[in-house]
Amino acid sequence: MNVMVVGGGGREHAIIKKLKENKEITALFALPGNGGISFDAQCVDIKATDLDGIVDFAVKNGVDYAVVAPDDPLVLGCVDRLAEAGIPAFGPKASAAVLEGSKAFSKELMKKYHIPTAQYEIFTDAARALAYIEKNNVYPIVIKADGLALGKGVIIAQSYDEAAAAVKTIMQDKAFGKSGDKIVVEEFLTGPEVSVLCFTDGKTLRPMISSMDHKRALDGDMGLNTGGMGTVAPNPFYTADLAEQCMKTIFQPTIDAMNAEGRPFQGCLYFGLMLTADGPKVIEYNCRFGDPETQVVLPLLKSDLYTVMRACTDGTLDKTAVEFADGCAACVILASGGYPQKYVTGYEIVGLDQKGGVPGADIYHAGTAVKDGLLCTAGGRVMGVSAVAKDLSAAIDKAYKAAGRIHFKDMHMRRDIGKRALTALTKED
Ligand code: AMP
Ligand code: GLY
Repeated sequence: MNVMVVGGGGREHAIIKKLKENKEITALFALPGNGGISFDAQCVDIKATDLDGIVDFAVKNGVDYAVVAPDDPLVLGCVDRLAEAGIPAFGPKASAAVLEGSKAFSKELMKKYHIPTAQYEIFTDAARALAYIEKNNVYPIVIKADGLALGKGVIIAQSYDEAAAAVKTIMQDKAFGKSGDKIVVEEFLTGPEVSVLCFTDGKTLRPMISSMDHKRALDGDMGLNTGGMGTVAPNPFYTADLAEQCMKTIFQPTIDAMNAEGRPFQGCLYFGLMLTADGPKVIEYNCRFGDPETQVVLPLLKSDLYTVMRACTDGTLDKTAVEFADGCAACVILASGGYPQKYVTGYEIVGLDQKGGVPGADIYHAGTAVKDGLLCTAGGRVMGVSAVAKDLSAAIDKAYKAAGRIHFKDMHMRRDIGKRALTALTKED
């Protein structure tokens, strides 16, 4: 069986390593993949947004099944295009990927179907947005570009001036292009954040083990927002009671709402939740696996990933078991100095073995390339170092120990991944 994975980051590497456990898969392609992924799959130099190139490659190479991992090809309709060519694929069609592709759509959906989320208003006119913010006069306030913005389209403004600057950046300077034609102005919520990824075939929903991302660049949740600097799973703030409550008030209602709108969602639906004093609320939906959540969730998946993905596509998830191991996982991201702003690439990475790994951990490559036979840095987030252990503290220690073996010039990592989660566990005792 030939399987193709669209994408080329750490998340895709984690998906590929897990798919490799299925012995029926004889060929694995990554489009475009990256330096480290090339040890586990055949990398093909086709961009994840080049839908014509992707479909053409899949047809010519007899691809039996595709996994479309990143947000942009999903929102552009990659799964629809593959389906038209007769190739089944994991991921939502464009009509359902809009749940991530338009924050205005997702907010209107939640309002219509009474799914708990932050209060908000939508604007297409900057002057009206500013008038609303001034009259509302509560800070912080959250300003969000409607469309995809590489995870950078959310600005938390502490004052009117900061809010006005955010509106200008998004709507007038068009920092995120057409994604900023519309904005959502939203109430600021507080509480621990939880990521819950769910497999779904459009009817049945199977939540995966919960996780916690660390979005800020620096220790103590300081510095700029990034794509994610590390993760732990499970998330200790997410109790069994909360899981039950979220299933009833958020997860199933979202699936039902998408069906009622004629937009059945198949694939991985990511719920970004905030556990507020008023109960769990949706901060965001993603139409895909999270990065770097995947790098702690999939190492704990006991079931065969290909079988589960296929069940999501074929509508047979009700007959398919999705089981997780009892342990815990931690992932520490090694980033280029300067990320998420300016950084230099092309530095040699030392400390990895012939296949890009280190003992005691799973290395998920993100921004790496092979140059003259050597692994070099090629992006902001360079790789994730993931480890699994019986408890969280041991998983964190293992991940940091392995990370300590790896080095490249100006390497940056947070030293406090999992610290907040460990505090929560200590409080429980
Ligand atoms: P998003 O890209 O929607 O995940 O937003 C990025 C981050 O901004 C989230 O992970 C939260 O930490 C924060 N955020 C987004 N919306 C809100 C909100 N309404 N209140 C507080 N923080 C928020
Ligand atoms: N880690 C958050 C995301 O994938 O959007």
